[in-house]
Amino acid sequence: MREILVTSALPYANGYIHLGHLVEYIQTDIWVRAMKAQGHQVTYVCADDAHGTAIMLKAEANGITPEEQIATVKASHEADFAKFLIDFDNYYTTHSEENQHFSELIYRRLNSAGHISTRDVKQLFDPEKQLFLADRFVKGTCPECDAADQYGDNCEVCGTTYNATELKNPQSTLSDSTPVLKTSKHYFFDLPEFEQFLKDWTHSDNRLQPAIVNKLQEWFDSGLASWDISRDAPYFGFQIPDTPSNEPDKYFYVWLDAPVGYMASFKNLCEQRKGTDNALDFDRYWAQENENKTEVYHFIGKDIVYFHALFWPAMLAGSEFRTPTGVFAHGFLMVNGEKMSKSRGTFIKAETYAEYLQPEYLRYYFASKLSDKVEDINLDLEDFMQKVNSDLIGKVVNIASRSAGFLVKKYDGMLSEVCAEPRLLEDITKTGDEIAAAYENREFSRAMRLIMQCADKANEYIDAKKPWSLAKLEGTEQEVQDVCSVAINIFRQLMVYLAPVLPEMTDNAKEFLNIDDLSFASRNQWLLGHQIKKFKPLMQRIEEKDVAAMVEASKASLVTTEAPITTADAPSMKDAKPAAKNAQGKKSTAESAEQTDYISIDDFSKVEMKVAHVIACNYVEGADKLLQFTLDVGEDKPRNVFSGIRKFYEPEQLVDKKVICVTNLAPRKMKFGISEGMVLSSGDPKTALVVITLPDAAIVGDVLG
Ligand code: MSP
Ligand code: ZN
Repeated sequence: MREILVTSALPYANGYIHLGHLVEYIQTDIWVRAMKAQGHQVTYVCADDAHGTAIMLKAEANGITPEEQIATVKASHEADFAKFLIDFDNYYTTHSEENQHFSELIYRRLNSAGHISTRDVKQLFDPEKQLFLADRFVKGTCPECDAADQYGDNCEVCGTTYNATELKNPQSTLSDSTPVLKTSKHYFFDLPEFEQFLKDWTHSDNRLQPAIVNKLQEWFDSGLASWDISRDAPYFGFQIPDTPSNEPDKYFYVWLDAPVGYMASFKNLCEQRKGTDNALDFDRYWAQENENKTEVYHFIGKDIVYFHALFWPAMLAGSEFRTPTGVFAHGFLMVNGEKMSKSRGTFIKAETYAEYLQPEYLRYYFASKLSDKVEDINLDLEDFMQKVNSDLIGKVVNIASRSAGFLVKKYDGMLSEVCAEPRLLEDITKTGDEIAAAYENREFSRAMRLIMQCADKANEYIDAKKPWSLAKLEGTEQEVQDVCSVAINIFRQLMVYLAPVLPEMTDNAKEFLNIDDLSFASRNQWLLGHQIKKFKPLMQRIEEKDVAAMVEASKASLVTTEAPITTADAPSMKDAKPAAKNAQGKKSTAESAEQTDYISIDDFSKVEMKVAHVIACNYVEGADKLLQFTLDVGEDKPRNVFSGIRKFYEPEQLVDKKVICVTNLAPRKMKFGISEGMVLSSGDPKTALVVITLPDAAIVGDVLG
């Protein structure tokens, strides 16, 4: 029996659980259940990630304390996870005594080993709010292309990444005040000292997926940088211990204590179970000398690999704790082939889904899509409905509903004493080994395929034997009972195989099969001379109208979301080298794309658009992102407009074309002159922007209604 500790990433305490998150919690939960079913001692812990500026500000906006804020969110997260049958052994919070204890302990050990240093850092500071501004709380003009209204980490127009301090005309998004530069002392964890250790660690023992090892190689190639682990007050988190008493308080950056939350949640569980039959020993799982006795696995999304495969093992090794046995990253969730979108109703809260559809449908669908790869997975709603209906209802449940009736009606539920098709049943029992291995290797889609192949064999067998026709003939009692008994036995095997994915349905099946065990080993004991109970429907078909209603409700529920969820405490790689910064910059861009900020129709109607004739279009000396337009919009004088689309067009492609110009945009003074409008284009500014052009017939100056 192996002793295994498993974690999922700790969701931020400033937002609700959505279907994207559930990819991870469902993946981990299935793995944990499958490993338990194979007889291992598995412990699954998680917690809310409760610290950081974003949570502090959200509480402030809601007029409550951060403690009240995180308690409410934790309750809602736990309710959502319960609905989706995520069976944590402990769900805790990072705002806990245990977490403070271990964060301080790790920090002190790192410090006394000489892995912590301090350095002055110049940062933007909001004089009104009296706090240092994370990148996402600063907006200004891009230093590269002069695009207005860009965040402090990268420009959405030209894609450049920069420091917030480089923004022109910076503005705090918290107070609209102009931030000032302020210096303060920061504490750094010396990651570069761990370079050799990390290179060995990441390349050994199959701890990481090949794609992750490659990604890490890129980060090693561009060099590791020390990591800023402190934040200034006011901050919601733990104070850094042992700092000079005559200096202002410093707090641990949320990402320092977040992974420590894995340990803390486990420690809390050890306390809860003290003196019981299933007591757990903390040191057995975390002390360095026990590294080979137990296993520790972290399931995470691909966006937080840097923290789990570099910072975390380095922190643990530097403070004499054991490091994880493996870190497993999954990809992101797409819905209908695109990023989740509020306006399309595909940004779906866990809660909203559960109001309309059974969580087990989603568990099965994700299982049928998940592999050991870091690839994104797509929830195609049409395919979802079709696959669940045809596999689970059409194939699996059908086996029982076709055969249980005869047995109960005519044989008092008794199964035959002898198995009439031992070869078939052996074959399916044996496939269980492959299915178990597929689960363990996180190849869930392969496991689901194997299970459906078993179901196909059962259905082919029933179709060939036709018990319903046999039953009408004389002297076939034994054969009918035999055929139905074989079918029920196969169905039982399928329940064993599907139990990690469909715990509720298989639990109900246990009742009607009159058995109390669905462990993998139990399948070797076939049901012979065994009495079953009356069959009850185990699962309903998915109705198209329910899926549609869920999508509609998602549009509605998100439009009314109160305070927006910010990710200001999401990875900020200020101090890491450029490659690492880019890698993390991706997260913020992805999130901002997911979370549309709505404007009202009144806002929109303020925008004045006119058809413009491009009189001239030219490169701009010294600006490699810009094109300069001279536009006739039907006014006395032509307008001068700059646009950051040089990457996508040669000027001559646009000369003499009719384009759409926003004419009432406040004129913007740029390094190269004043821009008096905006040329409308559409697409992804990173890959392909297309200027909206109109047929020649369009009249210049026509106002678009
Ligand atoms: N709080 C950090 C994790 C700290 S772990 C010590 C965090 N929280 S999160 O709420 O943003 O994300 C929690 C987990 O859900 C992460 O592993 C993340 O990758 C995953 N997902 C969040 N959105 C997702 C999708 N749209 N798709 C798939 N997984 C996603 O990061
Ligand atoms: Zn720019």
